[in-house]
Amino acid sequence: MSILVTGGAGYIGSHTCLELLNVGYEIVVIDNLSNSKLEALKRIFELTKKDFKFYQADLLDKMTLEQVFLENNIEAVIHFAGLKSVGESIEIPLHYYHNNITGTLVLCQTMRKYGVKKMVFSSSANVYGIPKNVPVTEDSPLKPTNPYGRTKLMIEEILSDLYISDNNWSIALLRYFNPIGAHESGRIGEDPNDIPNNLIPYINQVAIGIRDKLSVFGKDYDTHDGTGVRDYIHVVDLAKGHLKALEMIIPTTGIDAFNLGTGTGYSVLELIKSYENATSKKIPYTFTHRRPGDVDKSYADITKSNKMLGWKALKSLEDMCYDSWRWQKNNPNGYNEKKEKN
Ligand code: NAD
Ligand code: UD1
Repeated sequence: MSILVTGGAGYIGSHTCLELLNVGYEIVVIDNLSNSKLEALKRIFELTKKDFKFYQADLLDKMTLEQVFLENNIEAVIHFAGLKSVGESIEIPLHYYHNNITGTLVLCQTMRKYGVKKMVFSSSANVYGIPKNVPVTEDSPLKPTNPYGRTKLMIEEILSDLYISDNNWSIALLRYFNPIGAHESGRIGEDPNDIPNNLIPYINQVAIGIRDKLSVFGKDYDTHDGTGVRDYIHVVDLAKGHLKALEMIIPTTGIDAFNLGTGTGYSVLELIKSYENATSKKIPYTFTHRRPGDVDKSYADITKSNKMLGWKALKSLEDMCYDSWRWQKNNPNGYNEKKEKN
């Protein structure tokens, strides 16, 4: 029996494939490589010495998806495949709705056809929108403020309707907070295509000299030092959360949502300091205006995932910073040796 990993060549998917292989799961990966590189999969093999099947295909390609289920004995699906940029989702919403939602519909239809009814789905803390209270519990209001977040909420609702229609499904909705860091080997990590939007990929590029300085977006937020507070979680801890969710859904049925975070919020200035301590690199920065759509603070209540999944993030903020830096240092151009500076 195999676990099908959609989007397995991506940032979180690649780290999860590695953990799955390391504990002995057989996996099959499907990815259209729209936001990832084949090299990530090669490196997973290099690190684990375990072979796995890869289909370079789009989830919207129903024929190929059928082929994947016909050719493999799939037990459960971990569904990472999706587009994830908030800004881009505002510019090209139809593309986001089509890719994320239709892709998931085609996947679910195919799973149902082949009698596979177990899924771990990559949702996002984005479904909470502007949190009223922190830490954010799973039963907080769901009010995403952008098309990307709405695709995640709509998919959660679709999966919930699916379960209501057929109680044999078993689904875990994992709401990630802010994944950062990289595998300790320094061989796999986050490889943004463009100028990075997110904090750590940007800081990495400042540290390596691709960018001069970081712009800290706003210093008048309602937080202890005025800068935005987030729940950063090491991608390897996050990947391990997927294995716990899989262990939970395989022998049971039902649908439930879980926050995956550390439960602790850090400000932008605290993150910069931790990065500097961990790496001995100076990160020059200036304050600029707030980024539209940014919230003051968002961090998870992790009571439910601790209890029900038996999972807890173990790595510190300094671990996250150091591992991010090691990945950047060892792979200044990401997976692409020839990538030019932006
Ligand atoms: P990523 O872009 O690195 O990985 C997603 C992968 O899916 C990519 O390899 C991409 O090529 C593939 N893909 C996209 N659409 C596809 C399609 N139609 N068919 C086949 N493959 C397709 O992103 P990530 O950071 O690894 O995120 C994984 C999942 O987690 C996404 O669903 C994302 O929305 C969600 N998520 C990510 C974050 C984050 O901060 N990284 C936070 C919350 C939720
Ligand atoms: C962003 C997305 C969110 C997504 C998350 C993880 C937006 C509005 N939100 O959230 O939907 O789930 O990434 O992928 O895009 N910051 C700077 N300078 C920078 C970059 C960021 O000061 O160059 C600040 C931000 O204002 C924020 C913090 O750093 O306070 C973290 O930013 P980021 O890494 O983009 O994550 P989120 O804002 O949580």
